[in-house]
Amino acid sequence: MSVTPQQPIGIFDSGIGGLTVAHAIKKLLPNEDMIYFGDTAHLPYGDKSEAAIQAYSVRIANILLKKGCKVIVIACNSASSAAYELLKEYVSKDTHIINVIDPMVALVAREFQGKNVGLIGTKRTVQSGVYNRKIEEANKGITLHSLATPLLAPMIEEGFFNNQISHEIIAQYLSDPALADIEALILACTHYPLIKKEIDQYYKGSMKILDSSEVVAQALYAHLKSKNLLNTQAGSTDHFLVSDYTESFETSARMFFHDAVQLEKHHLWE
Ligand code: DGL
Repeated sequence: MSVTPQQPIGIFDSGIGGLTVAHAIKKLLPNEDMIYFGDTAHLPYGDKSEAAIQAYSVRIANILLKKGCKVIVIACNSASSAAYELLKEYVSKDTHIINVIDPMVALVAREFQGKNVGLIGTKRTVQSGVYNRKIEEANKGITLHSLATPLLAPMIEEGFFNNQISHEIIAQYLSDPALADIEALILACTHYPLIKKEIDQYYKGSMKILDSSEVVAQALYAHLKSKNLLNTQAGSTDHFLVSDYTESFETSARMFFHDAVQLEKHHLWE
């Protein structure tokens, strides 16, 4: 079956983090219909095994494929590091999969040659070593200093940001010696753009903070354009599916997408 421009874009994450990517995508591609899946029943992904994340990701991909998505964006670093290669093999050759890691690696390789670059992300992402491997492959003399910051995603998911507790947790992590002497910091978790302002305040505006949402949106645009799959019809509809209803997801989704948000519950094993 051939793919058509009118088919929706599928996007998924463990929870609200991927909304930062979805938001950038809708800004760049307002005509595209979007189906967003937040796997709120299984978050945080960052502490799960690779096998568990692979199982969730395959189930979510099935749901998005059944709904006719022309492309799937893995808007989660933990799932991108655990399940991207598997999903690429799993879906038919007509469905393209975009992860959040490759566009960021391309940006860093372009702009930070020969530099020390820091990275914060979940345990799954940091332990996978995928950023190190890909940055080494780019061969631009970049040294990556990674730190797992496992409290941050659950903290953000609970709506704890811009307050005393989040300031202290962020300061504790960022003062870790692993991140000394860096010239830029990769936010290798799609939840972290929600605390970008606080991270910037910690560094008093002196650090280049790299968030993947815009480069991922551009990668998606480039793919759709190259395949003649850009939806040129004005007006679009968005659907938000969650594996468990949570108030924090609804609040965040409304923050990004205003009142248009109508949550639908969808079990992974249905
Ligand atoms: N937003 C995700 C990521 O980019 C997942 C965070 C989590 O669920 O632990 O890794």
